[in-house]
Amino acid sequence: MPRNFLDLSDAGGDAIAAMINDAMDRKAARADRPKGAADNDAPLAGRVLAMIFEKNSTRTRVSFDMAMRQLGGSAIVMESGTTQLGRGESLADTARVLSRMVDAIMIRTDDHGKVEEMARHATVPVINGLTDRSHPCQIVADLLTIVEHGKPLPGLEVAWVGDGNNVLSSILEAAGLMKFNVRAGTPEGYEPEPEFVQMARAGGANVTLTHDAVEAVKGADVVVTDTWVSMGQEHAVGKLAAMAPFQVNDALMSHAKPDAMFLHCLPAHIGDEVTESVFESAQSAVFDEAENRIHGQKSVLLWCFGAI
Ligand code: CP
Ligand code: NVA
Repeated sequence: MPRNFLDLSDAGGDAIAAMINDAMDRKAARADRPKGAADNDAPLAGRVLAMIFEKNSTRTRVSFDMAMRQLGGSAIVMESGTTQLGRGESLADTARVLSRMVDAIMIRTDDHGKVEEMARHATVPVINGLTDRSHPCQIVADLLTIVEHGKPLPGLEVAWVGDGNNVLSSILEAAGLMKFNVRAGTPEGYEPEPEFVQMARAGGANVTLTHDAVEAVKGADVVVTDTWVSMGQEHAVGKLAAMAPFQVNDALMSHAKPDAMFLHCLPAHIGDEVTESVFESAQSAVFDEAENRIHGQKSVLLWCFGAI
């Protein structure tokens, strides 16, 4: 059975801890190399990743491609609109064809069921590059960023402010696996998915749900937000007004710990979910986080290939 990475629980807490360590080691070992040069051991030499995009992407697309290059392999980008998938060829047939041609498949799409369908029919690892349900690869990079900034995960207070979306769902899943706490401040009607809240609590994480942004951020070690309008929700009426009190600004950050870190998976909408002053502040680690998509993804790929 191939190792699929559809959500963080597919790997589990021990493997995620090992991924973070491996990512830090590999990142340090290649600090002075050209970005496209392979790591010394080139552990995925000759391996090819196919990437299917049914939604836009900058970071996921480039970081998976660079991750494969740095591991000694290569990647093929398939924009679904220019493939037969885009003309109605089934996911099942696409999965079986790609499994004969490449060594792993990454897919970014809307319905999480499509990723599961792909995994059911593929005989090579399938990786979730974001769905409406979750964004596990992003959270590997986020955890890596938090740990490399000297904040151990167990017991950490992570505040989420804004929309209870796919990224928050993966943070909650991570909380149960890595034993940190989440304080989610969202407007009414935009709370996190109950399934993921339960998952976090079942794993031993404290989860606080509030409709008060200040309460969410009070005493936090890390403050995280994301766009108020995720891909596919462009016509959400009235949402921006509901979100306005959940903007991460200097006043809100002042309630977090003085050394609290600010994270955002990007793309950011300055003046909406975050002010320029917070985004550009010394507390903001958003570009370390973006770079870490490469290093995190290398670990995800190595785990899928059984090398972590
Ligand atoms: N954070 C993230 O997944 O970015 P992209 O949409 O650019 O891939
Ligand atoms: N929640 C956002 C994340 C983008 C990387 C979205 O799904 O559009």
